[in-house]
Amino acid sequence: MMKSRTFISLGIETSCDETAISVVQNGKKILSDEVLSQVDLHSVYGGVVPEIACRAHIESILPTLIEALKDAGIKLSDISAVAVTNRPGLIGALLVGVSVAKTIAWLLKKPLIPINHIESHLYVNNVAQDLSYPYVGLVVSGGHTTLFWVQSPLSYRVIGRTRDDAAGESFDKVAKMLGLGYPGGPIIEKIAKKGNSEAIRFPRGFVSPESLDFSFSGLKTSVLYYCKGQNASAKTPIKKGLNIQDICASFQEAVVDTLIQKTLQAVRHKKASAIVLGGGVSCNEHLRSKFQIAAEKENIRLYLPLKKLCTDNAVMVAAMAYEKYKKLKGFKSSMVQKSLYLDAFSMAE
Ligand code: KG4
Ligand code: ZN
Repeated sequence: MMKSRTFISLGIETSCDETAISVVQNGKKILSDEVLSQVDLHSVYGGVVPEIACRAHIESILPTLIEALKDAGIKLSDISAVAVTNRPGLIGALLVGVSVAKTIAWLLKKPLIPINHIESHLYVNNVAQDLSYPYVGLVVSGGHTTLFWVQSPLSYRVIGRTRDDAAGESFDKVAKMLGLGYPGGPIIEKIAKKGNSEAIRFPRGFVSPESLDFSFSGLKTSVLYYCKGQNASAKTPIKKGLNIQDICASFQEAVVDTLIQKTLQAVRHKKASAIVLGGGVSCNEHLRSKFQIAAEKENIRLYLPLKKLCTDNAVMVAAMAYEKYKKLKGFKSSMVQKSLYLDAFSMAE
């Protein structure tokens, strides 16, 4: 039997290639965390194929829901609200999660809370710790590399973003180029452990000293030319005798260095005293330890998400729902319901 002041949120995440459903109590206590990865389906193509992702979500969303409820030890009717990632992401993949979320919310007559995927990647840090505001947030994922100035849990501004490839995307593309597999991040990190990060000086993609924007496509091209020679195309074979371990370590170093330099630039610009990281790339051990060293040197607090909550999951969706619900509670519930439904309808980004 649930206590009346207990807020149980069901989170649904289907923005890319993970079908994830989670149950979280009062924004902090993880009752279940189901993540069904589609990596095996996409790895043969070296990246996510949208049509395959959508079909896989359709097949796995109801079994994932059943598992998430079973793990949490609750019935569907115990849920206080349904939260769902509604942007950004693959439109067909988002539609699967949003349709299921809307159906459950409609059936239970409970609030439907739309959650922005990038914002929730940062918000998930609140599950394990209470963050100090304001802070500079950096989301580094397969689709985004974005710097935020976050003043309170739901109030923030984008202050920098990538102008081309995202950091995670550059790991994926370099791994594909080297024939290492998908997703590239964890594979490159593993190989880089045996390499020398100073062996090759790949370029750092700074757009300009004033801008807080990133650029990673030049770095990717530089690795391409190093491995295949000038005028190489995607089909050109990589040169013989290259030290792949050194290439991975030096490439990873260039990405991490760029991310740290730009984040520190944002910290100085905002006179911030805390940095918060989020997104798939933030589970990279080299990035975590170099950020830790940099933050200590600058006397800045650094918050890192739990490693299992860096890549896509639904805990971040269910947890952030509690924050949004607290904010909306003051409004008349029928109006909240209506506005949330409308927001969840408009999805494309
Ligand atoms: O946040 P996420 O799961 O999905 C998106 O929102 O995109 O991030 C996935 C990205 C992929 O590009 C993957 O290669 C990268 O995160 N990634 C890593 C590591 N683990 C995942 N990048 C570097 N090192 C890792 N250990
Ligand atoms: Zn993500």
